[in-house]
Amino acid sequence: VTVSELTVDLGDRSYPVLVGPGVRDRLATVLPTSAARVAIVTQPEIPVRLDPHREHRVFHIGQGEQWKTLATVEELCRSFAAWGMTRDDVVVGCGGGMVTDVAGFAGAIYHRGVRVVHVPTTLLAMVDAAIGGKTGVNLPEGKNLVGAFWQPSAVLCDLDVLASLSTRDTRCGLGEMAKYHFLTGDELLDLDIGTRIARCVEIKAGIVADDEREGGRRALLNYGHTLAHALEIVSGHRLAHGEAVAIGLVYAAHLAHELGRIDTDRVEHHRHVVEDVYGLDTTIPEGLDDRELLIAMSRDKKTRSGLTFVLDGPTGVDVVHDVPAAAAVKALGCMTRADNGR
Ligand SMILES: NC(=O)c1ccc[n+]([C@@H]2O[C@H](COP(=O)([O-])OP(=O)(O)OC[C@H]3O[C@@H](n4cnc5c(N)ncnc54)[C@H](O)[C@@H]3O)[C@@H](O)[C@H]2O)c1
Ligand SMILES: [Zn+2]
Repeated sequence: VTVSELTVDLGDRSYPVLVGPGVRDRLATVLPTSAARVAIVTQPEIPVRLDPHREHRVFHIGQGEQWKTLATVEELCRSFAAWGMTRDDVVVGCGGGMVTDVAGFAGAIYHRGVRVVHVPTTLLAMVDAAIGGKTGVNLPEGKNLVGAFWQPSAVLCDLDVLASLSTRDTRCGLGEMAKYHFLTGDELLDLDIGTRIARCVEIKAGIVADDEREGGRRALLNYGHTLAHALEIVSGHRLAHGEAVAIGLVYAAHLAHELGRIDTDRVEHHRHVVEDVYGLDTTIPEGLDDRELLIAMSRDKKTRSGLTFVLDGPTGVDVVHDVPAAAAVKALGCMTRADNGR
């Protein structure tokens, strides 16, 4: 059995990411030795059991983005306190990106920060959310508007847990994978699942090691995300994050074309990769209002003034500020609308 061991290289905060079947059983070996208690944060629906080989408790959080809130984090921290957790103890986030974002944030602020280990259980969390130390929750005004950078001590990507993942959640992971495809040109789908996940981790780890706090290159990981976050908010989270990213990638191509940065072949290439290669739906659900999407996009965290996007161009993908609203609206008009039940 092959286990890949990668490193997110951040000096004295560097940490290992293990990718392979059964690696969740190594949890006890990656926990900080100081930790007497282990708080496992997960959801009841996630069929993954962990054995930290020391005193532990399981704390359940709600299912779905509507529970990714400050209230959930407060409840977790109160439960940690009631249990008597100290700053030497450790939080383990066991779940999809929603769980690792919430558990990571609770770990970042409980006692001003305790160690965190992630056991991501969705494809999306393995290739993206659990890596790189961005943690946080949503506000009604927007996605991930409150949070902290808080690197975990280790990440265990156990391939065995993917067996129970729904088709829909697998597709969500493929949305982020398509993003890496455009950032690197890698033909990820040619690789077996373990190698593919390990390669995505390696890409993300490289970018994070370069630019931990998103002063520059890390922003490229938001490719496709300006519209994606708006779609999640305006649809009331009927669209899942990865589904929205798939749409956002094709939209970003139309917008880049609108601004004269890429030609129609390159737009078609985006559509081809997302729809034909990755098999993802890129239609915007009927009934989502362009004006509302535009307002939501202008609240994006990347924005200083006006609209900001990550866009393809002659020298590759780049952050573009002050995109005219008219171009953003025109590009929305290039997208297919459909009532496909989502
Ligand atoms: N921090 C980051 O850098 C980062 C990056 C990308 C995405 N995110 C965040 O990640 C979230 C999306 O993550 P997600 O797509 O994993 O969604 P999710 O965490 O909501 O999980 C999706 C569903 O899968 C279920 N599930 C999880 N593991 C399972 C398993 N092994 N078997 C069966 N069901 C399982 C969950 O209960 C849930 O219903 C969003 O909140 C997004 O903002 C964060
Ligand atoms: Zn994402």
